[in-house]
Amino acid sequence: MNFKEHLKQKSLLVEEFLSGCLDEFDTLGLPPGLKEAMNYSLLAGGKRIRPALCLSVATLFGLDSRQALPFAAGIEFIHTYSLIHDDLPAMDDDDMRRGRPSNHKQFDEATAILAGDALLTDAFVFMAKPAKAFGTFAALEPANVLAALSAVAAAAGGCGMVGGQFWDMKYTAKGNTTLEQLAQMQAAKTGALLAVSCRSGALLAGVAQDEVEKITDYGRWLGRAFQIVDDILDEIGDPEEMGKPVGSDREQGKSTYPSLLGLDRSVELAKEAGDSALAALNSLRDIEALPDGPQRDEALFLRELIVYILKRGS
Ligand code: IPE
Ligand code: IPE
Ligand code: MG
Ligand code: MG
Ligand code: MG
Repeated sequence: MNFKEHLKQKSLLVEEFLSGCLDEFDTLGLPPGLKEAMNYSLLAGGKRIRPALCLSVATLFGLDSRQALPFAAGIEFIHTYSLIHDDLPAMDDDDMRRGRPSNHKQFDEATAILAGDALLTDAFVFMAKPAKAFGTFAALEPANVLAALSAVAAAAGGCGMVGGQFWDMKYTAKGNTTLEQLAQMQAAKTGALLAVSCRSGALLAGVAQDEVEKITDYGRWLGRAFQIVDDILDEIGDPEEMGKPVGSDREQGKSTYPSLLGLDRSVELAKEAGDSALAALNSLRDIEALPDGPQRDEALFLRELIVYILKRGS
């Protein structure tokens, strides 16, 4: 398993699906200007980590990637909406995203808000689709799709990503955020969506509850590492490589690990979160004992992904 090649294959699958998926709405009344704004952010690149996780976990548990693809794409819709809204002047007020002007800079604020709203809602149109059969693969169990759908809705909503974004705003420019508040806020704003990317893959495959919980734990720890690294990169990253500004958190007085504990300790905490993600993965599968095949490839991919997230520059 070549990690980079494997990630590329997954993101190509996702890109291909995303690039044409709004076309089928053309005859259903999607205003062309709204479609343009949705596609502008959706098709601007991005690492596609969340859909890659969903596809990988689904395959680890015996599904074919294509069965989980509309679901993985739906999660990327939700993530993209969260980025559009995150950049708005009322939130982080950032002008660059994915290497191009933020949605509200390219269009206008009202369009950016509505493009986000549409991406969030239309995500559920696509996620309800895995029920259909793909080639020689059977249709997914409707009960499994329903379980995955409700998990994603909960992770994206007020008790998950949106709730975390709410706390993020409340803790901005306040200066007295505790470590516990910071951890909870990050677990919600970033951890919830990364965790449910994994959880939904397992739920779609209909595996036993303890396996669902272990892979969700892996995703939660990965999410913690991911946001700590995001905060570190906001201090020391390369804006060209990241495609978004550096120094934005400091400028706004955001509560982050580097702002509370400094860079060195933040790097240590990200590494510790990575170790916990690895422990969760090891508790699920003895990777070394797995025979060669797609499931071993996915387990190795999920293991390498931890290192990639810790070492990433974008
Ligand atoms: C950025 O997410 C927002 C956070 C939750 C930290 P990504 O770093 O995954 O952004 P893209 O999708 O690659 O642009
Ligand atoms: C974003 O956190 C979390 C979201 C839910 C979008 P940040 O505000 O740190 O993300 P970036 O750095 O702008 O991508
Ligand atoms: Mg933010
Ligand atoms: Mg931001
Ligand atoms: Mg950030």
